[in-house]
Amino acid sequence: MKDLRIGVIGAWGRGQLALCAHKPGEGSRLVAGADVKPEALEKFKEKVGEDVFVSDDYRELLKRDDIDAVFITSPDFLHEEQAVAALEAGKAVYLEKPMAITIEGCDRLLETAYRSGSKLYLGHNMRHFPVVLKMKEVIDSGIIGDIQTAWCRHFVAYGGDAYFKDWHSEQRYSTGLLLQKGAHDIDVMHWLCGGYTQRVIGMGKLSVYDKCERRDENNPGDASWSDSNWPPESQTGLSPIIDVEDNNMIMMQLDNGVQMSYAQCHYTPDSERNYTFIGTRGRVENIGDYGNCEVHVWTQRGPRATPDIIYKLKPLEGSHGGSDPSIVTTFIDFVKNGVKTNTSPVAARNSVAAGVLGHESMRNGNVPKDIPELPQYLLDYFASGQQK
Ligand SMILES: NC(=O)c1ccc[n+]([C@@H]2O[C@H](COP(=O)([O-])OP(=O)(O)OC[C@H]3O[C@@H](n4cnc5c(N)ncnc54)[C@H](O)[C@@H]3O)[C@@H](O)[C@H]2O)c1
Repeated sequence: MKDLRIGVIGAWGRGQLALCAHKPGEGSRLVAGADVKPEALEKFKEKVGEDVFVSDDYRELLKRDDIDAVFITSPDFLHEEQAVAALEAGKAVYLEKPMAITIEGCDRLLETAYRSGSKLYLGHNMRHFPVVLKMKEVIDSGIIGDIQTAWCRHFVAYGGDAYFKDWHSEQRYSTGLLLQKGAHDIDVMHWLCGGYTQRVIGMGKLSVYDKCERRDENNPGDASWSDSNWPPESQTGLSPIIDVEDNNMIMMQLDNGVQMSYAQCHYTPDSERNYTFIGTRGRVENIGDYGNCEVHVWTQRGPRATPDIIYKLKPLEGSHGGSDPSIVTTFIDFVKNGVKTNTSPVAARNSVAAGVLGHESMRNGNVPKDIPELPQYLLDYFASGQQK
């Protein structure tokens, strides 16, 4: 079978994910990269080969007819423009989360995929995390009864390093970190609870990083991580403009009656996404989210310290707990063979919608916000695996 020929827009940073698809002769290969940074294109060439096509303009990459599919791994605020252009150019698209930074942007992408018939795939790699799949298996088995509520506490120790020194810190580029980071968690909770948010209420605040030393606006900023950046108030080199919150909390009412909450803090000493799903006959919770981690299940009354079942998960090879190689393989299989996927463009849109309106609520007196519904023809099209 011929290799799927792939271009990468945003060739470094998260773009390194696409290297998992570079398997010449085995079904897929990288043939092009676009990035605005020359050093990113240099590194891309070092990994992929000197003969690979590179450009500082993604439109040049999209013009090529020797490219079947693209990975779009550029910053969030570019997703809508670049993915619409790629779909219009007839390329299958792997688009990183969050799908876009507005609900209108997501809806434009769904509409363009429908109209063009080009395949759209959303890179929600947490749907490939072993710990998430194990909790889904527990819930789907029925052992904890019918899910009624779900909570996620999201501790982000690297928040000051990664999100307050570059584009992430500005609403015009990210909308906010509830959306930027939380798109993953809202999506996981929607998936495991079997519904989508109808109404959201938010509360949040910029509480620590507004007090830290800033960088000059001509200095591009260094968003590399270091454990020595502690305590959070000692961070230096922060963005000149910070208008996103470092503490975010939302409550969500789902269309199937389930209620959820999500809390995210960017100045904790430790890092973890800690979920719990509570049903009518028990509760499941993860302890650790990848690598060596556990899933605990309680099905009888008794102390928290002695769950009824403990699953011990072993580390898998590959970045993000082994989810990155797995999601790339699924994308290639989806494009080439139309296989059913864990992820869904409609679900990605609905996680963005809850994030955007959660931000809107927290910035406007904590008023409830209702998620606009998608038209039935789009729901049908994506439910059918993008077959007209
Ligand atoms: N799923 C995950 O686990 C995961 C992890 C990290 C990042 N992400 C997502 O990946 C995306 C990129 O994040 P990042 O941290 O790598 O960002 P980044 O700022 O490092 O940018 C990624 C690459 O895009 C390039 N780029 C910037 N502007 C461009 C343009 N106009 N055209 C082409 N390339 C351009 C940058 O030079 C860089 O090489 C974000 O949307 C983020 O949410 C997802």
